[in-house]
Amino acid sequence: MKKEKKTHALLFLLLLHVTLGQYDYAPYFYDNGPSSTNGNMDLFSISEDTPVGTQIYILNGTDPEGDPVRYSLTFEKGSMEYFRVDPKTGNVTLTQELDREKQDEISVLVSITDGRNKVVETVRVFVTDANDESPEFQNLPFIIDIPEDTAPGSSIYRVQAVDKDMGSGGSVTYYLQTSPFAKFTIDGHSGILRVKPGETLDYETTPTHFVTVVAKDGGGKYKGKHQVMSSTATITINVVDAQDMPPSFVGTPYFGYIYEVSVPGSEIFTVFAKDGDQGIPNPIHYSIMNGSDGVFDINSTSGCITLTTYPYLLTNELYEIKVKASEVGPNDQLLDYDVTTVTVRVVDLNNHPPTFYGENGPQSKFEVTMYEHPPAGEILRGFKITVNDSDQGANAKFKLRLVGPSRVLRVVPQTVLNEAQVTIIVEDASGIDYEKGPTLSFKLLAVEIDTPERFSATADIVINLLDTNDNIPKFTSEYYIARVAENSPGGSSVVSVTANDPDSGPWGEVKYTIYGSGSDLFAIHPTSGLIFTQPWTSLDAEVRSKYNFYVKAEDSEGKYSLAEVLSPSST
Ligand SMILES: *[C@@H]1O[C@H](CO)[C@@H](O)[C@H](O)[C@H]1NC(C)=O
Ligand SMILES: *[C@@H]1O[C@H](CO)[C@@H](O)[C@H](O)[C@H]1NC(C)=O
Ligand SMILES: *[C@@H]1O[C@H](CO)[C@@H](O)[C@H](O)[C@H]1NC(C)=O
Ligand SMILES: *[C@@H]1O[C@H](CO)[C@@H](O)[C@H](O)[C@H]1NC(C)=O
Ligand SMILES: *[C@@H]1O[C@H](CO)[C@@H](O)[C@H](O)[C@H]1NC(C)=O
Repeated sequence: MKKEKKTHALLFLLLLHVTLGQYDYAPYFYDNGPSSTNGNMDLFSISEDTPVGTQIYILNGTDPEGDPVRYSLTFEKGSMEYFRVDPKTGNVTLTQELDREKQDEISVLVSITDGRNKVVETVRVFVTDANDESPEFQNLPFIIDIPEDTAPGSSIYRVQAVDKDMGSGGSVTYYLQTSPFAKFTIDGHSGILRVKPGETLDYETTPTHFVTVVAKDGGGKYKGKHQVMSSTATITINVVDAQDMPPSFVGTPYFGYIYEVSVPGSEIFTVFAKDGDQGIPNPIHYSIMNGSDGVFDINSTSGCITLTTYPYLLTNELYEIKVKASEVGPNDQLLDYDVTTVTVRVVDLNNHPPTFYGENGPQSKFEVTMYEHPPAGEILRGFKITVNDSDQGANAKFKLRLVGPSRVLRVVPQTVLNEAQVTIIVEDASGIDYEKGPTLSFKLLAVEIDTPERFSATADIVINLLDTNDNIPKFTSEYYIARVAENSPGGSSVVSVTANDPDSGPWGEVKYTIYGSGSDLFAIHPTSGLIFTQPWTSLDAEVRSKYNFYVKAEDSEGKYSLAEVLSPSST
């Protein structure tokens, strides 16, 4: 190219001179071998970091006639004018910043003239590289989603940076600017990012990692010094939650209550569990493991526990329901689970009065038959009474009281919580006397103490007394005056004695006898107590005017008492 142009120019000049009819040689640039010494700057190389104003070249040419030469430079239309030349000396100065990465070759027309002939040549100047470019990351921003269960050592991404410089200054290596505990590594040459061997990711502790990556070139000359250039970028690594955390119940411990107004279907409590994998939570399936005694149900999706029966049919006051929350996997299989306890209390509403029970269930009358005169302190074992109040706490606290002939009986205990055996004890035995009345009646009361309702129960306590021979026949007087007229015929009645025995039956039947000196003349009717003279007796006051004897009243067991029978004169 160069040679061709030059030849054209020379031909043109030769033709010019021939036609002028006069021979004048054109000036020319020295052209002796290596480009550095080319007089016309062709193939000259200049580093892009050369400062503006630097003298970079000296154009060198001559004229065969020895005439002084002048130089000039021109650039193609529209292109940047990088150089200026001093016309006399040929000194070429840089007038514009160079940038190899934009333009690595400059085309310029150099000319030399001796005033008559002008030689113009097109030359190329090469711009050489300096390390002025930093590596430039491609495809920013770096945002990566990786599964939580990515295996240690796995490659997860490749970063790439381009440095437009040449050679070492354009080669790129990578490293991570991170703490020694970092979970990632990068291959310096390939830019491949990996999970560090031995490290695992955990969405639950760190859902996002920010890693700073540095791209560094191999260094090179720039304005006379060795320069290394680098750039940094942030890699955002989003850890995608995997199925690795069990669900867990929220808001435990759980307490529920059953009120006596509850009905089958009443909501008792709603449990709630959350999948530990919060990124992609699975649905939860609830179920009752045990402890529900068949009286609770759970909605497997809502966790709502309901009652399936009526509260009065419940046998416990407290239920500990074990509830399980399982994660439901993509194919409806149950995965990890958590278990919790729901404590359900049956709340009492004082709706049970105290109740007396006999051996066969509730009873309101208790009756015993016993002998009179039990010793004081004796427990009346014939009564088998229990009392209970199936409420709870204060609602089941009540007092026991006996109402009836006072101080005869005592009831223990006096204060009851829930349930007690009722014991009745003789306090004052004298009141328990068949002769005063064969039947004793009391009311046994149970009255709640601390409730507004003061529910109560009453039972009749009836004691039927059996008699004992506790009385001896008793004469109506300590002595009786017998009067009989002299010469009364035999068999005349003289006096009638009476002894009473309140006992019943034979124990109350009195048999009279008489004895003592002077009793021979008399007889007594054993059951009526009528004393009369013996049939053969004829009393003569002159013979004996005073008679004294005893009368004995005796019951069937031989219990007896005596009285005196006196004649009037003996008084
Ligand atoms: C120009 O070239 C000639 C011949 O090679 C040389 O002798 C002379 O020193 C050069 N002049 C400059 C200024 O380089
Ligand atoms: C041209 O360059 C030479 C050699 O560097 C220098 O001595 C001379 O002063 C320069 N002339 C001009 C006009 O800059
Ligand atoms: C309920 O189940 C758990 C686990 O199987 C067991 O440990 C516990 O004893 C059970 N409780 C009852 C009341 O059955
Ligand atoms: C369980 O609860 C869900 C949500 O409240 C409801 O849609 C569903 O009907 C309930 N299932 C049963 C069997 O009650
Ligand atoms: C009350 O006591 C009676 C007799 O011991 C018993 O049969 C009954 O079950 C008790 N009732 C309650 C609610 O405890």
